[in-house]
Amino acid sequence: MGSIRSYESSISVATHDSEPHLARYLYETVRTLAGLLVALPRRRLNDLTGKEWVRATKSWFVINPKPRTRVQVRHPAKYPEELVMHFLRFFTREDDWVLDPFAGVGSTLVACKEMQRNCVGIELNPEFVNIGEQHLTGVEGNSDAHLITGDAMAISALMKDYFGSNVPQFDFVMTSPPYWNMLRKSRGGNDSVHKQRRSNGLALYYSDMREDIGNIEEYESYIESMGRVFDGIRRHLNDRAYLVIVAQNMRDTDGEMKPIAWDLARRLSMTYTLRQEMIWCQDNKQLGCWGYPTTYVSNVHHHYCLVFQKKYP
Ligand SMILES: C[S@@+](CC[C@H](N)C(=O)[O-])C[C@H]1O[C@@H](n2cnc3c(N)ncnc32)[C@H](O)[C@@H]1O
Repeated sequence: MGSIRSYESSISVATHDSEPHLARYLYETVRTLAGLLVALPRRRLNDLTGKEWVRATKSWFVINPKPRTRVQVRHPAKYPEELVMHFLRFFTREDDWVLDPFAGVGSTLVACKEMQRNCVGIELNPEFVNIGEQHLTGVEGNSDAHLITGDAMAISALMKDYFGSNVPQFDFVMTSPPYWNMLRKSRGGNDSVHKQRRSNGLALYYSDMREDIGNIEEYESYIESMGRVFDGIRRHLNDRAYLVIVAQNMRDTDGEMKPIAWDLARRLSMTYTLRQEMIWCQDNKQLGCWGYPTTYVSNVHHHYCLVFQKKYP
């Protein structure tokens, strides 16, 4: 109010000048805008105390995934529920709606159920949906959890088929897409993982399906397809909704690094505002000796968690 009053007195000086109409107009506009700001209190983002808020904004953190169950291990790239919870605490409150368009075996849904958030996951491979559903039935909680089999590219049609006229609007998106077709390529650490999974009779990649984003061969087409998936998600989000997308820059078989996280950040910025990156570090992965003694090949034990927000006027 003080600032409006001081603005008012400066305007009254201006009205003695040669442009009284412009000054009046400016004054009225400022008053209207100030009134709107007072009338529209912003929704609290989370239930953290100030101290917890500050701690949660540190741009890197360590989460070491727990060993996966015998069934979960059938998925080649599950992320830990603790990672999801880290972001749920900051970007959501109880009863909010969360979306995961690449839900895998349902880690996002499990974390949401444990924290009393409602969640919808979309996953292309029905085998992973099955595993996720089994896991969900064992989790206590009475929030909504819907794991839908389908192609994230067709999100609007899927939602309409599933929810009819009651399609939820989402407050938050938490997901980890396929990191291009990297699971199909044997190199460095992935090579040993492949050998181990093959000897245990486990799948090396997500599926052979045409719609699987992890099967796109051309890098630029992969980035563009990801862009189109997230363009389609936009209309299902509430204003100011945040999105956290976990991705990793990866070394290709010819030794060149493909900056997947940075290229996704660039493409998705056409639809969303890129707010920050957070770095998820893993400190319990075995170090491998690649390239010694001639070639630099790093052990990549971190992921980018890209934070976007739905653009608002
Ligand atoms: C990195 S994994 C996600 C794992 C998940 N965060 C979890 O913890 O289980 C990516 C998933 O995207 C799925 N996927 C690939 N293309 C898809 C598409 N077009 N629509 C929906 N899911 C897709 C894959 O089957 C795979 O399970």
